[in-house]
Amino acid sequence: MAELKNTFGQSVAVTLFGESHGPAIGVVIDGLAPGIPVEEDFIRDQLTLRRPWGKLSTQRQESDLFQIVSGVFDGKTCGTPLTILIPNGDTKSRDYEKTRFLARPGHADYTAQMKYHGFQDYRGGGHFSGRITAALVAAGAVAISALAHRGIWLKTHILACAGVRDSSFAPEEQALKAQLEALRGSRFPVLDHAAGERMQAAAEAARQSRDSVGGVLETAVLGLPAGLGEPWFDTVEGVLAHALFSIPAVKGVEFGDGFALANLRGSAANDPLRMEKGRVVTGSNHNGGINGGITNGMPVVFRCGVKPTPSIFQPQQTVNMETGENVVLELEGRHDPMVVHRAAVVVDSVAALTLCDLLAMRLGVDWLAGR
Ligand SMILES: Cc1cc2nc3c(=O)[nH]c(=O)nc-3n(C[C@H](O)[C@H](O)[C@H](O)COP(=O)(O)O)c2cc1C
Repeated sequence: MAELKNTFGQSVAVTLFGESHGPAIGVVIDGLAPGIPVEEDFIRDQLTLRRPWGKLSTQRQESDLFQIVSGVFDGKTCGTPLTILIPNGDTKSRDYEKTRFLARPGHADYTAQMKYHGFQDYRGGGHFSGRITAALVAAGAVAISALAHRGIWLKTHILACAGVRDSSFAPEEQALKAQLEALRGSRFPVLDHAAGERMQAAAEAARQSRDSVGGVLETAVLGLPAGLGEPWFDTVEGVLAHALFSIPAVKGVEFGDGFALANLRGSAANDPLRMEKGRVVTGSNHNGGINGGITNGMPVVFRCGVKPTPSIFQPQQTVNMETGENVVLELEGRHDPMVVHRAAVVVDSVAALTLCDLLAMRLGVDWLAGR
């Protein structure tokens, strides 16, 4: 592991840069094949899915007007590093001055202090801010549309939030495809809209108690070829989890039935194989489309546990990092009472970038461009 690096990926590598209240944030994607269409309208649409809205999000308003400053010519990738810059606009750094040395419980203020020795830009959470995920979403949009051109679709829904549960993904591939289609463009992506209303009401009740809520995101990827991934270390689960754990507030990742598999008998946990239209399929998908670290051609299904937003407006016990005193923190600033819904598109983006990397390693860099 290299110290002080913010790059992930082997063939398709992503570097993130920027701080929440600095002039701009951005991303460099290196290793994308030449000739992949870059659809700016789609990047804009994806950024809209992440942008704060309504009472359940921070009141910080960002236009997310991005600029592609390298790597694209005539609407297609050049094969050189693709850089996207997103200027920061609505910053209110003064909110953070008073509590500069007071580490927010659950946030990265104390760990940033230990790693960067006080040189970190603390304003708005600096490099640890959810704001940085806008850059990931912009890069992810390029990856998502490249995958779609190759028949690979992925989408995330809010499986659970504030104790309310959404319907599950359908086990059957055609029905699952229709569900992914129905989630497209949703800023609160749920399969059951009544459940979505109840989630929002429960989150609003938490907000009114100056508190926050978390939830579980569930993602399905359709159309991946069998044979991606390595049997040891760079398993598909391992590589995806590595990337997904970079998303701020993601504290758990599981594949297929995940931890629930531990309570099943083998007869219930195994996915029986059969031939269908000249291809091997499985009758169930408890293993989430991955066996031995390698894709089996069935939908890859995984879940991310997202914790409640750490910045809450109740008094909290903490430490003044400058004086070493025990103090009570009463927070100011603008924070999301829940980030689960906004994190859904971030999960799609991170997964798509990671899958582009795995595909490029298995099938060659040019495969993504259709060559
Ligand atoms: C889209 C998004 C927005 C976020 N907004 C906030 C926020 O407004 N306030 C906050 O305290 N945390 C927010 N977070 C979560 C923190 O950035 C995160 O909890 C923190 O960096 C600590 O990292 P960890 O929770 O992974 O340990 C957000 C996360 C995401 C994905």
